[in-house]
This record gives sequence, C-alpha cells and structure tokens, in this order.
Amino acid sequence: MAHLTVYDDYNPAQPCLATADRAVLAGHLALAGILFEQWSAERPLPEEAGDEAVLAAYADAVAALRRDRGFRSVDVVRVPRGIAGAAALRARFTFEHTHDEDEARFFVEGSGAFYLHVDRKVFRVVCEAGDLLNVPAGTRHWFDMGPDPAFTAIRFFTRPDGWVAQATGSPIAGLFPAYGPQPLPA
Ligand SMILES: [Fe+2]
Repeated sequence: MAHLTVYDDYNPAQPCLATADRAVLAGHLALAGILFEQWSAERPLPEEAGDEAVLAAYADAVAALRRDRGFRSVDVVRVPRGIAGAAALRARFTFEHTHDEDEARFFVEGSGAFYLHVDRKVFRVVCEAGDLLNVPAGTRHWFDMGPDPAFTAIRFFTRPDGWVAQATGSPIAGLFPAYGPQPLPA
C-alpha cells in the first residue's frame, strides 16, 4: 500500500503528516506539483521475464502514458530479491539530486521509497505495485530501495539523454529515515 510521510525539511524527527489514504496522498503531492496515480499492476511476471516481456505485459498502460504525457521512451529496471551488490546499487540513488527531465516510474512489482524535497518540505512516498509517480524535472529528490531490494519499475523518459543525476551536495538524505522493514509512521 502506498504511504506518504511529510516532514519539514531538516526536521526528520517529527512528521507533519503520515497517511496511507490514496486520495489524501495524491492530493498533497498534487499541491506540490507531483503526479501520483494508481494503475493496475496485476499481470503475472515470471521470474525470468526480461525487459521486453515486462513492457509487453503492460503495453496498454505504457502506450497510454506515452500518448498522454509525452514520454518518448521507456525502459525497465528489475531488481530481483537477493541481487548481488545490493548495497552498492542502493547507494547509487540515496543522495539528493536533480535531473533535467521528469523521472517517471510505474512500479509493477515490489516497492521502494522516493523522497522529494519541495518548498521546505520532504515528501517520503513509499511506492508499491500499481503506483505511478512523476518527479518533475529539477526537483530535488532521492530514492531508497531498502536493504533487501526487490522491485520492477517501468521508467519513462522525455529525452534520451535526460537521466543524468546532478548531485546537490546536500547531506539531507542521510537525515531522514531510510526505507526498510521498520513500520511506517501512523
Ligand atoms: Fe533521480
């Protein structure tokens, strides 16, 4: 189940809001300019399914999103549980950064947490299968796949060379609760 925790930035000890209500979650994110939608993600994917098989299983949703949102290309990131080098892979995304284009992710298996740093707030969004999140271009953010990562996400791009992470140099990501097995704030 998707979950949102909102903090004042640099005050990770005291959440302002914690909710698993999808309408509340999507509404708060929309006010911050962040698109969050629920799509169906119930197609079974065999363990050995490659990128093409994942895209084929979700061809309808992918076509609709490309048509409606102007995305020009897609690919798949699939991290199976128990992957070698999980800690190093996780560390590639757990620092605050921006991109020159939107970072749109449609989770079709598993989960992970995006942290968006917008207008002196940090929005921690735990995404699960069926969740579509779009991090707008230029938005400071980081992503935590947790210590035991397992997820599949379809990634959408508006330009072929846009997904280059520009680090902000801020230590903020290290201040906030990591994504992991601990319970989420109620
Ligand atoms: Fe990113």
